[in-house]
Amino acid sequence: MELMRLDKFLVSQNICSRKEAGILARKGEIKVNGELVKAADIKIDPLNAKVSVKNKEINYQKYIYIMLNKPEGVVSAREDGDKTVIDILPEEYKRKDIAPAGRLDKNTTGLLIITDDGDFTHRMLSPKSGIYKEYEALLDKAVTTEDIRTFASGIETKTAKFLPAELKIPDSENPFVARVRICEGKFHQVKRMFAFCGKEVVKLKRLSIGSLHLDEGLALGESRLLTEVEINNIFN
Ligand code: URA
Repeated sequence: MELMRLDKFLVSQNICSRKEAGILARKGEIKVNGELVKAADIKIDPLNAKVSVKNKEINYQKYIYIMLNKPEGVVSAREDGDKTVIDILPEEYKRKDIAPAGRLDKNTTGLLIITDDGDFTHRMLSPKSGIYKEYEALLDKAVTTEDIRTFASGIETKTAKFLPAELKIPDSENPFVARVRICEGKFHQVKRMFAFCGKEVVKLKRLSIGSLHLDEGLALGESRLLTEVEINNIFN
């Protein structure tokens, strides 16, 4: 059993700052297993202790996993001169160590996971995990069967090598819209693969990561927590 200081526990759950935890404890606003505590530097078992602040019980989560429908114009970073994906999250999700699991370009929209679980991010991004990311792209020219073959055989440019990828035209009446599935996440990858075929990506949206699909109920800029089932399914 790994013990944790009560104030650190409260900070990790984004309840209050360490200093505020001390003040709340002295005011008699914190209970652990039904007992009032007088100080916030006591050690608790984070997984089993029942902690309540102002009579509201805290549902401990070691890590937080957020699904964001990323809008255009925000940067996939923790901090930047421009507005970031962290800036647009609700305050209650803004834990200390959260960061986007991978990057979408500033003008790309769609599914982005934000978490403070570094191992998860590493596993999700590793090409070895074989997790496919699916994108919808609007192109400046019609996609051809030649492009589909080029994507399928992998692309090698002067500066990069891209693994074979699946390219589809979901609606043959509109060959300007394509779906791409890739299992890597190289810088500007989809745009560079289309550029190799002489096409420019006008709009790009990420639809899914593994079996996790963007929740279409989320408007651009909206986010929600992922369920445990959704998190595990990403790797299945
Ligand atoms: N590929 C790109 O070119 N841009 C993205 O944002 C994601 C994948």
